[in-house]
Amino acid sequence: MGYAGRWSAAVVLWVVAVACMGQALTKQPASVYHARRVALAGELKGGVAILFAAEEPLLDFMPYRQDEDFYYLTGWNEPGAALMVVAPSGHERSYREILFLPTRNLRAETYTGPKLDADSPGVTTTTGVDQVEPMTALATDLNRMIDADRKLAWNVWTQPDSVQAKAVVGFTAATLGEGQPPATHDVTTMTMPLRQVKDAGEVDLIEKATAASIAAQRVMFRAVKPGVTERAIAGEMTAVWMERGCERPAYAPIVGSGINSTTLHYSANSRTMEDGDVVVVDAACEFSMYASDITRTVPVNGHFTARQREIYEIVLGAQQAAINAFVAGKSKINDYFHKDPDSLDAVAFNYINTHGKDLHGQPLGKYWEHGLGHMVGIDVHDPANYPAVLKPGMVFTIEPGIYIPEEKIGVRIECDFLVGPDGKLIDLDAALPHTADEVEAAMRGK
Ligand code: GLY
Ligand code: MN
Ligand code: MN
Repeated sequence: MGYAGRWSAAVVLWVVAVACMGQALTKQPASVYHARRVALAGELKGGVAILFAAEEPLLDFMPYRQDEDFYYLTGWNEPGAALMVVAPSGHERSYREILFLPTRNLRAETYTGPKLDADSPGVTTTTGVDQVEPMTALATDLNRMIDADRKLAWNVWTQPDSVQAKAVVGFTAATLGEGQPPATHDVTTMTMPLRQVKDAGEVDLIEKATAASIAAQRVMFRAVKPGVTERAIAGEMTAVWMERGCERPAYAPIVGSGINSTTLHYSANSRTMEDGDVVVVDAACEFSMYASDITRTVPVNGHFTARQREIYEIVLGAQQAAINAFVAGKSKINDYFHKDPDSLDAVAFNYINTHGKDLHGQPLGKYWEHGLGHMVGIDVHDPANYPAVLKPGMVFTIEPGIYIPEEKIGVRIECDFLVGPDGKLIDLDAALPHTADEVEAAMRGK
C-alpha cells in the first residue's frame, strides 16, 4: 500500500473508531436536538446560552457521564465541549447555534480513546449542530456579540455551578474592559420545563431502560432465597442490564433485607438474606442516558407472613388510591408535607394513615417518610419544582412505602408512569408483578 493508501486507510479506521464510539448510545435524530435548541432560544428573552459538557474523569476509573442538560440539547457524549445558543433579537441578532470542541489531548486519548475536534472530517454532520468551532473561538465570539450590543452582557444564561462558564464570562468582561462581569442567569430554569415533557423518542429510550429493568427484576424474583447475599442479587441484576445494552445502573442498587428493608436508600448490600425476611429491591438501569426506577418487595422464603402481607397490601392500596385519584393537568406529585389539596402524596398518605396499625395501636402514616414520587428522565430524579403538576408527556414514579424498624419490615412498591396524550396514566412496568399473590407466583417461576 502506498502513502496515499495508508493515509486513507488510517482515516477510514479513525472514522470507524469514532463512529463506533458514537454508536455506544442510541441517539435521537439530529433534528430533535436542533428543535430543542430552537425551543431554548425561544425562552432566552433575546439572550445567549452557554452550556458546558461534563469533563472526563482524570486518570481514575469512573466511566464518563455527560452533563444532563448538555446531552438533552445536543446528544453529544464527548467531554469538554461547549454549546452556544443565540436567541434572535430584533435586527441585532438572528438565531445561531455553535458547538465548540476542545483541543484534542492525544496523551489523554491513549487512556480514554479518540475524540473529535472542530477540524475532524464531517464534524458538522456528525454533531448535527449548525456550526462547529474550536473551543478557543468561544471567548472571541462572545466578545464580538457583546461588543455589538453591550446590553447582552446582562442576558447570558449558564449552568449555575459551572467553573468554565464563570471563567469565560469573567474573561470576556476583561476583554471588553468591563471589570466585574454581570451575574449570569441559570439556564437550567429554562431547560427544566422543556425536559419534563418527553417526546416519543425519549419515551422509547425510557421504555428500553424499563424493559431491561423488568427483566432484571424477574431474575431477582427467582434468585432471592435464604442464604443468598444482597450483593449477589445486585450482581445478577447488573448482568441482565448490561446484556440488554444498558450502560449502567440508574442509581446504586438497593437490595435491603430484614432490618435493611427499613433504610430508604440502603445500598451497602452486604447482608445475607434470611428465612422470614422481606427484601426491598429498588434497582433499575439506564439505557442511552435515560433512566428507569423500579422497586419490588419480596419475601425471602417465597411466602409473606400475615403481617408482611398486611403491610404490603396497605402500600399497594396507597399506590392504587393515588392512581385512582389522578387527573392530568391537576394532580401534583412530591408534596412532602401532604398539604396541597391536589397532591397524590396526600391521597396516599391518608390511605396509609387510615389502614392498619403499628404494634402500639398507632396509625402507620409516620412510617412513610419520603415523597410519593418524582420525575424520571435523563436524571433518575429529573429536575422539577415540587410539588409538580403532572401533564401529558411526563414520566414519573408513584412509590409509597411503609418502613417499621421495630418489626424489621420495610415495603416499597415503585412503578414508573407515563401520562398519555389523552391524560390517562400508562404503567410502564405493568408487565411486572404488583400484588402479593403475583409476587409469590413469580418467585415460583409462574
Ligand atoms: N431509587 C431511588 C428512588 O426511588 O427515588
Ligand atoms: Mn424513585
Ligand atoms: Mn427507586
